[in-house]
Amino acid sequence: MSISVLFVCLGNICRSPLAEAALRAEAARAGLDMEVDSAGTGDWHVGSPPDKRAQAVALRHGIDISGYRGRQVTAEDFQRFTHIFALDGENLKNLRRVRPSDGSAELRLLMDWVAGREGSGVTDPYFGDDAGFDVTWDDVTRAAQAIVARFQVEM
Ligand code: 4NP
Repeated sequence: MSISVLFVCLGNICRSPLAEAALRAEAARAGLDMEVDSAGTGDWHVGSPPDKRAQAVALRHGIDISGYRGRQVTAEDFQRFTHIFALDGENLKNLRRVRPSDGSAELRLLMDWVAGREGSGVTDPYFGDDAGFDVTWDDVTRAAQAIVARFQVEM
């Protein structure tokens, strides 16, 4: 079975694009083939590139995300992806609300797959300073490594 992963935060310009970049990198490193994408529950940043600070932290880790563009999650995403990860509890709640009854994707809180971080959200760095984006990068990298480890066992 082919695996496809969608990360969802609020704006799709900070946390979920970084999660997308981190999983693409970890999957490539592990030689795992999977589709990876990200989206927002909100629509304010549809068509926008990631926040400059998100672009900068990704670039510090050797990844150019300047070509990513924001989009809003759709009902079809629940059919198209095998796994949808919410970056925090608020977005998980909103995803449960928009999930169609026939949606097949497994819907989870991202950090639930990281040992010791179950039940926690990835803090929104948007209204904070640059250092917050380093915290975001660490969180989504740990989550990406956990996802790859899990899928390596399953595939
Ligand atoms: P994200 O961060 O959900 O991690 O992309 C945010 C980006 C924009 C806004 C809030 C959070 N906003 O209010 O515009």
